[in-house]
Amino acid sequence: MSADQTPTTQPASSQMWGGRFARGPAAIMEKINVSIGFDKRLADQDIAGSKAHAAMLAAQGIITADDALAIRDGLDRVKQEIDAGTFQFKTELEDIHMNVEARLTELVGDPAKRLHTARSRNDQVATDFRLWVRDAADRMDAGLTALQAALITLAEAHTDTVMPGFTHLQAAQPVTFGHHLLAYVEMFGRDRGRFRDARARMNECPLGSAALAGTPFPIDRHATAAALGFDRPTANSLDAVSDRDFALEYLAAAAICATHLSRFAEEIVLWCSDQFRFIRLSDAFTTGSSIMPQKKNPDAAELVRAKSGRVIGALSGLLVVMKGLPLAYSKDMQEDKEPVFETDDTLALCVAAMEGMVRDMTPNPASMRAAAERGFLTATDLADWLVRVLKMPFRDAHHVTGRAVKAAEERGTGLSDLPLDVLQAIEPRITADIFGVLTVESSVASRLSFGGTAPERVRGAVQAAKERFL
Ligand code: ARG
Repeated sequence: MSADQTPTTQPASSQMWGGRFARGPAAIMEKINVSIGFDKRLADQDIAGSKAHAAMLAAQGIITADDALAIRDGLDRVKQEIDAGTFQFKTELEDIHMNVEARLTELVGDPAKRLHTARSRNDQVATDFRLWVRDAADRMDAGLTALQAALITLAEAHTDTVMPGFTHLQAAQPVTFGHHLLAYVEMFGRDRGRFRDARARMNECPLGSAALAGTPFPIDRHATAAALGFDRPTANSLDAVSDRDFALEYLAAAAICATHLSRFAEEIVLWCSDQFRFIRLSDAFTTGSSIMPQKKNPDAAELVRAKSGRVIGALSGLLVVMKGLPLAYSKDMQEDKEPVFETDDTLALCVAAMEGMVRDMTPNPASMRAAAERGFLTATDLADWLVRVLKMPFRDAHHVTGRAVKAAEERGTGLSDLPLDVLQAIEPRITADIFGVLTVESSVASRLSFGGTAPERVRGAVQAAKERFL
């Protein structure tokens, strides 16, 4: 039993408890029903929607021009109060729509009571929420652009920095650090595309669909749609009040983006470790250990990695909320907002933290190069040489190369340090020319195929990325 449920013998408290007890179910009802705690974030959108609606009602002769003016000025005052922090949000008024309307009625009286003509909270909330998610998608696009800009700047400085490329987290072939960073620029570019696609699809206005069936009043839905920056009104009133695809698409784009951020964060954690030492993060993006003085932990990267869980959870949560709902509106749909708000907060924080880490990180080219020297990463180059110069079938070249790797391993050297006679003992037609392809620099320089890791290509890719994304 929690503290506030514990009956007390003190009269004042008893009275409070008693009153509450008598209205017990109603109090719980209010508690489960109320949404003002979170949907107050829709205040600006709610006011903008009401202004557009009132102006349209007047233009159509449904309310008088005087009423519309009183409503408009009253809504401006409500907004000022909210912005100034003086507005009193009331839980008994349930949600943002009734809070704004009730305050408007206090301020301007009768005209305010005509505002709800030809609309319902169902089309109102659908409109407000679309406006909010539309802004959120635009903000995310801007945040991701800034992250891409940071990545492109770093990539441009490291078009020639050699590092091991991995498959299975096993060193595979040398790549350039710039090329690796540009891989994330592509991912975040697709994320931006998904937010934009979602934005384009959601940009239809539900206002005027009313409760579910439309309205007998001679409203002009095209006018309200245009006033609120929508491309057009939604085509079907039942769909309009019960559709939350726009929120789901936003969350889906966010979940994929969070997954990209998480993968990058994982690489940052690895790269900072003593085993890799590919980059260093400054004190600004690390924390110390309370017990181990030598530690510098990449907490920001770890938290970006972890927070993807919330975002993915928000998407699955809302999918589950929506999946069993009959047409049209059900109160279940009030549960749509918190996952979206929480996702927006979380993802914006992660994108900003990631941009901060990219700008903060100091790469260690010597360490990357040393790692690229280990593990015979140019073995594929050796095999490719045998194919190209000796016209050897690739499968045979693979076999010969395997023997060369074995020889290098036994001697404790790299492939490029193997004496020519050792190589010729394996394949007599090998000449000294082969050493031209066995260094990590020659390996990356040779990968000139479109989208490949050669520094020359990466320089071009940096320019192309600037043009495509910035
Ligand atoms: N607070 C509600 C929500 O977010 C607004 C719509 C209420 N509609 C209704 N018919 N009760 O869903």
